[in-house]
Amino acid sequence: MTNGNGPAGQAQRTALVVGATGIAGSALVERLTSEGWAVLALSRRPGPERDGVRWLSADLTSADAVSAALADERPTHVFFTAWSRQDTEEANIEVNAGMLRDLLLALRGKDVAHVALMTGLKHYLGPFEAYAAGQMPDTPFHEEEPRLPVRNFYYAQEDELFAAAAEQGFTWSVHRAHTVIGHAVGNAMNMGLTLATQATLCREAGEPFVFPGSETQWNGLTDMTDAGLLAEHMVWAATAPAAADEAFNIVNGDVFRWRWMWPRLAAYFGVEWEGYSGAPRPLEQAMAGRDGQWAALAERHGLVEPRLDRMASWWHTDGDLGRDIEVVTDMGKSRAAGFTGYRRTPDAFTTLFDRYRAEHLIP
Ligand SMILES: NC(=O)c1ccc[n+]([C@@H]2O[C@H](COP(=O)([O-])OP(=O)(O)OC[C@H]3O[C@@H](n4cnc5c(N)ncnc54)[C@H](OP(=O)(O)O)[C@@H]3O)[C@@H](O)[C@H]2O)c1
Repeated sequence: MTNGNGPAGQAQRTALVVGATGIAGSALVERLTSEGWAVLALSRRPGPERDGVRWLSADLTSADAVSAALADERPTHVFFTAWSRQDTEEANIEVNAGMLRDLLLALRGKDVAHVALMTGLKHYLGPFEAYAAGQMPDTPFHEEEPRLPVRNFYYAQEDELFAAAAEQGFTWSVHRAHTVIGHAVGNAMNMGLTLATQATLCREAGEPFVFPGSETQWNGLTDMTDAGLLAEHMVWAATAPAAADEAFNIVNGDVFRWRWMWPRLAAYFGVEWEGYSGAPRPLEQAMAGRDGQWAALAERHGLVEPRLDRMASWWHTDGDLGRDIEVVTDMGKSRAAGFTGYRRTPDAFTTLFDRYRAEHLIP
């Protein structure tokens, strides 16, 4: 087995990014190519052409399609960020653990050094069906906490990873992110683009930018994960011996309160704002029926995405901002193992919004 870390290791490294058009996967493709890796990027639909990247197209729910797509490939490091949202947790387990299992099976005998798996804080909070509903570990969340006594597709994915690592001899890492903000369009969960879309719609309609969530989220401490930092963390863990065979939380490294952040986001967009006032005001209701408004706005400003449902994931932002519990994440384990990456969350938001503007996603 090659470990990819020797003097010649760098030159021999080939990354396989699975879910490469997603919010995490696309940040990984950017990070890895900027570091000079050869990148195999896998998803059903190809992403943008980029030097050093070769797109592979396969549906991960078909073991045959995955094994055919990877038959002639020799990745040394694998980054698994694919996700397919299902209606129930049982279906999430079947589909998402199955996609990882079949992908790893297709890599048998290929000298893979490391597999990094992205999961998230639902590891501590519980799956969508029982989200923040049962007993939870105390905040800040620490990696050493035992699993919750409920079925969870993250646990099922971890178990597939551990079993394949033991059988195939690669090292592994698990990356538990909080809410990720990053650059992806049409993906399932994207709070950055969702809030940018909400603010734009509100400004254009002369309405205030209303905080949709709970009193606890408005007033309490919380944190967030920038997709670029997550990519740095996954690449670090894939190549640092101290990170082998470990699960890590990954958040920006600062904490904030939404009552402090919300006016700052509003100021960026030049829109009036309203905070929590008595009850949550979910976006799914407040933003319903605005597809035509967005399409017209997109045409007026020459924007590239006229479909509101590809810009905003209202349900997901409602879920994250509507929680009635505090969510704060400990980064001590990563730091002790040598990861010093950091983002200021307000800067992560504005850098991302600047990019959306530059790419004509928002005016
Ligand atoms: N987004 C967040 O805020 C967040 C926060 C914490 C944790 N997480 C977790 O992070 C993981 C990744 O989520 P994400 O938000 O990064 O996902 P995402 O942005 O929705 O991206 C999913 C990726 O998987 C690919 N994919 C989906 N189904 C596929 C299939 N059948 N075959 C091949 N490729 C497929 C998609 O491309 P195609 O559709 O073109 O195939 C896309 O590239 C999930 O476990 C999620 O729960 C996400």
